[in-house]
Amino acid sequence: RDSLYKSMKKSGRSFIGTALTLRDEPREDEIVDANFNAFTPENSMKWESTEPSQNNFTFDDADRYAAYAKKNHLQVHCHTLVWHSQLPAWVSEGGFDNKTLIGVMENHIKKVMTRYASVCTRWDVLNEALNENGTYRDTVWLRTIGEAYIPIAFRLAKKYNRGHAKLYYNDYNLEYNEEKTAGAARIVKLIKSYGGCIDGVGYQAHLASESTPTAPGPAPDQATLEAALHATADLGVDVAYTEIDVRMNTPPSAEQLQVQSDTYNRIAKSCLAVRKCVGMTVWGISDKYSWIPGVFEGEGAALLWNEDYEKKPAYYGFLKGIKAK
Ligand code: G3I
Repeated sequence: RDSLYKSMKKSGRSFIGTALTLRDEPREDEIVDANFNAFTPENSMKWESTEPSQNNFTFDDADRYAAYAKKNHLQVHCHTLVWHSQLPAWVSEGGFDNKTLIGVMENHIKKVMTRYASVCTRWDVLNEALNENGTYRDTVWLRTIGEAYIPIAFRLAKKYNRGHAKLYYNDYNLEYNEEKTAGAARIVKLIKSYGGCIDGVGYQAHLASESTPTAPGPAPDQATLEAALHATADLGVDVAYTEIDVRMNTPPSAEQLQVQSDTYNRIAKSCLAVRKCVGMTVWGISDKYSWIPGVFEGEGAALLWNEDYEKKPAYYGFLKGIKAK
């Protein structure tokens, strides 16, 4: 039987994953079982979920994902330690000084990483630290600590990495925005210049198959995608697509769904064309639950299964791209 995972394995890459929110949808378990060997907890390991008030760690939700991974023998792309979003106000507005905020960061990294040491295959240590022009995003981390917060986060992640998690920087629009991609390459070099360790760069790949009010279209061609992956892979780190979805103006026509299928096809091919591209994760299973329509009104239909859990043309395009190698 065809499945994304079997084809990915044949192609010699490490993982094919989905973002996961555990919900009462039995079809999702079947789909995960048939197609994926990895998942990223969609929200449960973020700071607001795991440490909603200072040093008060709430692991009930994240623990369910750890148990699911163990039960189903799945890799987990753990997400995420240092980010400006879904960060509780006690951190973002806490008014901490440099030293205290580093202490806050250390305590968080220590507690969360050690708890999930046996389940995390990869960790997004740092998420979305860049502006579109490649400069650093203005966040409480940058304002309080300066750019050193980046190598500090990776140093702490290495210190508390009791398992074998690969340490990642993760961001969006790295797939085509050269200035931002150059920013990611600079981050890799910065961490190394401090003697730190970074194992990989995650390319989120929240793309659009056609021009929409919130995204340029069509999505990048294969040469652009490959060049973007090489921009950091050639520095000696792994790369991966970590949050793929391909949105469009809804409701989609058959023609739009075919353009989307072609887009998924070349995303897959671009990963398989780059030796250091270790895997790909799609940001959800069914269009029914994608984050997109709630955030970008009139856009969506971005995933591989439609709202009735039927495979879309995109599924077959993606599968064909994985097999093309
Ligand atoms: O759980 C509460 C629920 O109790 C409440 O009734 C409801 C009302 O709004 O909100 C629910 O929380 C929502 C949560 O998703 C779970 O559904 C949050 O409001 C909502 O903001 C949150 O959105 C998530 C978003 O990150 C937040 O930034 C999306 O699910 C998630 O897919 C999305 O994922 C991000 C990655 O982490 C980083 N890269 C971009 C990507 C897409 O935005």
